[in-house]
Amino acid sequence: MSVALVVAIAENGVIGREGGLPWRLSTDLKRFKAVTMGKPVIMGRKTWESIGRPLPGRRNVVITRNAGFVAEGAECAPSLDAALTLTGARQPGVEVCVVGGGEIYREALPLADILHVTHVHAALDGDAFFPPIDPERWAEVSREAVPAGEKDVYATSYVVYQRR
Ligand SMILES: NC(=O)c1ccc[n+]([C@@H]2O[C@H](COP(=O)([O-])OP(=O)(O)OC[C@H]3O[C@@H](n4cnc5c(N)ncnc54)[C@H](OP(=O)(O)O)[C@@H]3O)[C@@H](O)[C@H]2O)c1
Repeated sequence: MSVALVVAIAENGVIGREGGLPWRLSTDLKRFKAVTMGKPVIMGRKTWESIGRPLPGRRNVVITRNAGFVAEGAECAPSLDAALTLTGARQPGVEVCVVGGGEIYREALPLADILHVTHVHAALDGDAFFPPIDPERWAEVSREAVPAGEKDVYATSYVVYQRR
């Protein structure tokens, strides 16, 4: 199985606030697009609603317990497991990206092989969190310091972790 988690995390683990992102990071959105383009993206219903449209060029899968939920431009799955089956994540050569939010990351972390993490250099108030990344389980394989550009409110570091 090839499951990548793609996430931006503040220094205190915050990833979201009041249904949205607690920052404006244009450089990171471009990276997110580059990392996920062409791959199936799996997300929780709340993240789907916060994005407000399907991510173009990617198969969008929304996880919800609501069997009647309609997500225009996306497919719905009743569980993470069903979403992984639907997207072929268990077949060789298929990489799927889990793109949040907090509930879905928590469930997907034990199944993930690779983490694409933007560490946001700020501690912020929020109500959605990413679990701690245990260095005994996750090896850092690359790190890039990204200074805040014109359309970024904070500097970040883009770090890729692989399961040990
Ligand atoms: N910083 C980042 O990289 C990043 C990325 C993505 C999102 N976010 C932020 O994260 C926040 C949203 O995260 P969240 O934790 O509140 O919500 P979420 O994980 O996006 O979605 C939660 C919803 O997913 C469904 N769900 C969760 N577990 C399920 C399961 N086991 N089986 C079936 N359905 C399940 C439920 O939908 P139903 O209620 O419809 O059943 C649940 O209400 C927002 O603030 C967003 O901006 C941040």
